[in-house]
Amino acid sequence: MRVNRRGVAMLATLISVLACSPADEPTPPAAGQSAADRRAGAPGIGDPDFPRDGNGGYDVSHYDLVVDYTPATKRLDGVATISASATQELSSFNLDLTGLDVREVAVNDAPATFTRKGEELTVRPARAIADEAPFTVKVTYTGQPKPASDNANLGTYGFIPTPDGAFVASEPNGSKTWFPGNDHPADKATFDFTITVPAGVTALANGEMTGQPTTSGGKTTYRWRERHPMATYLATATLGKFDLRQGSTAAGIPNLAAADPRFKSSLDSLHTLSGQITDYWATVFGPYPFSSTGGVVDDYSAGYALENQTKPLYGGFQPDETIIAHELAHQWFGNSLTIRRWKDLWLNEGFATYAEWLWAEHKGTKTAEATFKELQSRPATDPMWKYPPGRARPDDLFNQSVYTRGGMTLHALRRAIGDPAFFTLLKTWTAEHRYGHVTTGQFVALAERLSGKNLDALFDAWLLQPRKPS
Ligand code: ARG
Ligand code: ZN
Repeated sequence: MRVNRRGVAMLATLISVLACSPADEPTPPAAGQSAADRRAGAPGIGDPDFPRDGNGGYDVSHYDLVVDYTPATKRLDGVATISASATQELSSFNLDLTGLDVREVAVNDAPATFTRKGEELTVRPARAIADEAPFTVKVTYTGQPKPASDNANLGTYGFIPTPDGAFVASEPNGSKTWFPGNDHPADKATFDFTITVPAGVTALANGEMTGQPTTSGGKTTYRWRERHPMATYLATATLGKFDLRQGSTAAGIPNLAAADPRFKSSLDSLHTLSGQITDYWATVFGPYPFSSTGGVVDDYSAGYALENQTKPLYGGFQPDETIIAHELAHQWFGNSLTIRRWKDLWLNEGFATYAEWLWAEHKGTKTAEATFKELQSRPATDPMWKYPPGRARPDDLFNQSVYTRGGMTLHALRRAIGDPAFFTLLKTWTAEHRYGHVTTGQFVALAERLSGKNLDALFDAWLLQPRKPS
């Protein structure tokens, strides 16, 4: 789902008119390039730091994922039906998928040919798709999913098999390890999950269950639906033996906590804290954007947690209130308001880190001002000051500066514009871009509009300079 397409198309038309190249007279193809190639969707969505992530030429509105997984054999059988609409004429288009065998592809129910190269699955429909036309692509696939584990400080992520199921956390680009799609946050969509596992295994996906699980022939099928737009990296189908606690928050939001039996003692506190913190954030950040909240603790030592939409996932540790506050803040900052480009990651991590400090302030443990001062006393040689958080680097995306100095940026802003303007800004930001996409420029512009101050020097020093702000 993208919002601005028409505007972009109009701008493109305007530019081509201004450049005096008649729009109906295509430039001749370069040597060796057939006319059909120019109608091929791009292999990347246009994020210069991740040039092959996502794809061009279409916009996904919905993923219908049907997945059967057997932990004993680590085998996954999947059928992904993707509803999309073309943003150009398409003779072919790409999906992102890594590993796994593609058995069959159909476009609008007609068989399509396809090729694989690296992490790109190229689909050629029997006939070209017209610009703006809605279409469906159905991919039948199978195999043993292999998680991503590259050397870019990202650890292991994606679909990670565990002895009793799978730990599924895909930030930044690991959804392609378990389903084909447009794997970049610039294209959000709604999701339906139909997950079949051996009886006794629980399947936990985003959103809410649609009906009770059904069991037959020793297998159980779970159906989940996320009816709000979601980035692909937030999609999960975490599988295994889980103890569950269900209920709702004091404000009435359905709340589901799940814990691997090894973390059974965490279940009650996870459930209680997730409920309290979700309700508190709604008073600070504005109405909760989704239809349920909660969290999942799995017995896999990921070394991180991930803010999977409606169900943050904690990897192999008992989550404390600080990290729960962080992951639930992401439901607003990252999940409802989603970055268009990875370089703006501080809009997720800086805000979620600042939320940790706000939670401590709320609890009376420590003010955000005290946290800020403590960090500000780090010497000018501290590596945090070298890494400008407003430009997250693809080879070190989750650098500590993106979190901590990103959070400090918000506190510096709060000091500059005062509490009333600052907290109005947080709520206005989440309201104006609910379920949409955001950039740093938009945040700076809103902060300036609401405060009536020129904040360019502040944001430049905090976000963009490779040195300690004075
Ligand atoms: N967004 C997560 C957090 O809130 C971090 C995810 C890290 N991803 C990874 N592949 N290491 O802390
Ligand atoms: Zn985070």
